[in-house]
Amino acid sequence: MSRHYAVFGHPVSHSLSPRIHAAFARQAGIALDYVAIDTTDFDAALREFTARGGDGANVTLPYKQQAAAACAVLSPRARRAGAVNTLIRNGDTWHGDNTDGAGLVRDLTGRHRLDLRKRRTLLLGAGGGARGVAPDLLDAGIGDLFVVNRTPERADALADALGEPGRVHPRYFSDLGAIGEFDLILNATSAGRDDVFPSLPMSLVGRRTSVVDLSYGEAAIPFLAWARAAGAHDAIDGLGMLVEQAAESFHRWHGMRPDTDAVYAQLREHDARLVSAD
Ligand code: ATR
Repeated sequence: MSRHYAVFGHPVSHSLSPRIHAAFARQAGIALDYVAIDTTDFDAALREFTARGGDGANVTLPYKQQAAAACAVLSPRARRAGAVNTLIRNGDTWHGDNTDGAGLVRDLTGRHRLDLRKRRTLLLGAGGGARGVAPDLLDAGIGDLFVVNRTPERADALADALGEPGRVHPRYFSDLGAIGEFDLILNATSAGRDDVFPSLPMSLVGRRTSVVDLSYGEAAIPFLAWARAAGAHDAIDGLGMLVEQAAESFHRWHGMRPDTDAVYAQLREHDARLVSAD
């Protein structure tokens, strides 16, 4: 019997997750369907999916925090992030997990061979995306983490939630001109998707700086173009993270870890709109 999976978001019609999970399932010989559910009412859509017998789901922008609230139980990493990207069915309720941070760290350290330890890090954004990755970056051994967000209160709230005041520092966008250079800069805002990207000083970037956009495709173009113009050592989009977080979710649902390299290579090759990772 085929099992039912979905990704909830808005907009979500261009999501690559259905393709990724179909490829993993073929590899593993598991019968499943995985569809994108575009909704403006996450709670109602999840209720309907539950009633129809859905077995598991991913959650993407802008519902990761709402999904955390909808879960009966949260994994420790989802609780720390206050955001959920993976729903695991448990009777009539849902367990929430967050595989974004693990996926990001696996992509950066495995695929891109970056040593994250002690890196002075700048995280742009404090929404669901930023919340998902910040705990794992800290656990991976980065140095100080500076969090900057358009709405400063949300940067403060994220910094508070991370619970390491000596290491995590909220700052304003207007501070960035005089804050010095970073070893790692991550864009976890949705600005590249629906807005003009805020202008950033090139003084943030040095010759050894790795710059990462959690988005992929067209949404990652403006930020990574800025990184290259500023002379960054690496400009990495979120395609690898996407495949790795999917693999972590797949592992939670099916108990096995798929081979991500083949799927990553296929997506990179077949979608001309995707930005080169190097
Ligand atoms: P959520 O919607 O749950 O907050 P998200 O989509 O990951 O999750 O969050 C969007 C992030 O992009 C937020 O940090 C948002 O900043 P605000 O908290 O001030 O809204 C940021 N963002 C979106 N558009 C932006 C823009 N044009 N410039 C700067 N930051 C932007």
